[in-house]
Amino acid sequence: MHSRREFLVACSVAPIAAAAAPLNSFDDQVRRILAGMTLDEKLGQMAQPDQEFLKSPDDVKNYFLGSLLSGGDSDPRAGNGLAAWTDMIDGYQKTAIGTRLQIPILYGIDAVHGHNNVIGATIFPHNIGLGATRNAVLVERAARITSEEVRATGANWVFAPCVTVPQDIRWGRTYEGFSESPDVVKVLGEAAVRGLQRESLENPLAVLVCVKHFVGDGGTAWGLSKPKMLDQGDTRVDEATLRRVHLPGYETTVKAGAGTIMPSYSSWNGEKVSGSEKLMTGILKNELAFQGFLISDYAAIDQLPGNYKQQITRSINAGMDMVMIPGKYIEFITTLKQCAQDGSVPMARIDDALTRILRTKFAMGLMDAKRSPLADRSLHNSFGSEGHRAVARECVRASLVVLKNENQALPLAKNAAHIHVAGKSADDLGNQCGGWTIRWQGASGRPTDGTTVLEAVQRAVAPKTRVSSSIDGAGVGDAKVAIAVIGEKPYAEGMGDRADLHLAPEDVATVARLKSSGAKVIAVILSGRPVFIEDVLAQADAVVAAWLPGSEGDGVADVLFGKYRPTGKLSFTWPKASSTTLHRGDTGYETLFEFGWGLSY
Ligand code: BGC
Repeated sequence: MHSRREFLVACSVAPIAAAAAPLNSFDDQVRRILAGMTLDEKLGQMAQPDQEFLKSPDDVKNYFLGSLLSGGDSDPRAGNGLAAWTDMIDGYQKTAIGTRLQIPILYGIDAVHGHNNVIGATIFPHNIGLGATRNAVLVERAARITSEEVRATGANWVFAPCVTVPQDIRWGRTYEGFSESPDVVKVLGEAAVRGLQRESLENPLAVLVCVKHFVGDGGTAWGLSKPKMLDQGDTRVDEATLRRVHLPGYETTVKAGAGTIMPSYSSWNGEKVSGSEKLMTGILKNELAFQGFLISDYAAIDQLPGNYKQQITRSINAGMDMVMIPGKYIEFITTLKQCAQDGSVPMARIDDALTRILRTKFAMGLMDAKRSPLADRSLHNSFGSEGHRAVARECVRASLVVLKNENQALPLAKNAAHIHVAGKSADDLGNQCGGWTIRWQGASGRPTDGTTVLEAVQRAVAPKTRVSSSIDGAGVGDAKVAIAVIGEKPYAEGMGDRADLHLAPEDVATVARLKSSGAKVIAVILSGRPVFIEDVLAQADAVVAAWLPGSEGDGVADVLFGKYRPTGKLSFTWPKASSTTLHRGDTGYETLFEFGWGLSY
């Protein structure tokens, strides 16, 4: 049998200059390597443990693992920092290329708004904010920076972009979606793929994308998911609706060359997507001619009916190519081996999965022995740099939506004598970044580097302007202008499912206190979705939806002080608190601000 190096010399790899070559153009090379692989080597390629559950780092070698991930809380044991991340991923990569076939691993991570697990990375607005920009060029630029920061740590695969089309804002993942409208999602999702994968996967700065969560994750019906309310639930719509609302984001991203797709935890009319042959093989692979591979969601196949063997059989036979396990990798590999040996999963299906995985690795240049799969540490210089943050700031200011601006309360004068900034989120970078920031669930406080809205206001005003601050709106003093920064605290996934979207009482009280001081009041709402704002709408002179802007608070100040004329438009309808449902299109849904609303000055 050939070693990777001998193999590469023997069949002389196609010139890597073949820009954006179709993935199946690598199949001759794949066939040759596949012919020499043992069953164990093949099965290892289909397994993706979370690195934090490896019993030993050597298991990468012992089980011929083709991939690892870091889930939302899976930091290096040496701590969370750029060097520790790079050393960890490089360490696993070195082990992988120490195997007989020297096939590098794909290291996947949720870089969903910048390389958000890593302290010091540039944190971009969550997709809901990018949706409000309606700016594909900006989304592509942001994605390019994300790919560069991910590459700096040696990771080469991101579980992004999320092209969900949330239909009910009570869902805790609403902010992961660009819009409730497939027309916005399909354009911005495609732009993100172009930015992350660049013109070709073989670009050393490109990262492999994973478009998620296929399909209908944002369409689940209220109350059908236990113990959550919407997350991982059941999307009960006919096929025409599924295709019209939830499929367009896959059509455009597959066309743009997306290398991987993640089937959703959720079900379509009672059947889990992760076990659906019709959706995964029929629609994605056959109809849309998707040539990349499917990676299951985190332990998602464990939710299929039956025992583990039945779950594996069902999912792989239906078209799943790689399984995000994340912990019981030995059991997974052993069980899949039984399935292969007793024929419950045909060898042809395993070889098809391998072909899809390996053609992706070829396309990325990972199988080229002349190219190192290790991190390019010179990229550490631009990690979280001023230049990268400047682009994030552009995204922030373009994402803000001015909902109300009475008597031209905005823009504010920079040279006011005194401005008071209040609210629980005024000086809270964690609230500003939301979930999927350093921790899976995010964290209030200062989990990473960046500029809060308060700090941004301090930087934006004239040297003589006094900026005072409070959490609760007390102590306005002689300030004629008061800014309240209020809204939601961080959450992710089903933990963010909420039946009631009213602002917290303390937020309403802060605004009321500011109002009673007689100052002009500007309310800035930081939230992962529209929330019920009637209680502050009446009191505030201006209201700005700033979503979850990320690390660059300066972008908020740019809009407040008129350095940037607001252009953001709602990518979600903003409902009234009196609505009896928040599922779009259902009777009882009442609109406060229409989709597309957004003032300027
Ligand atoms: C989420 C995915 C994510 C995966 C890996 C899951 O809980 O649903 O969006 O990519 O974890 O962290």
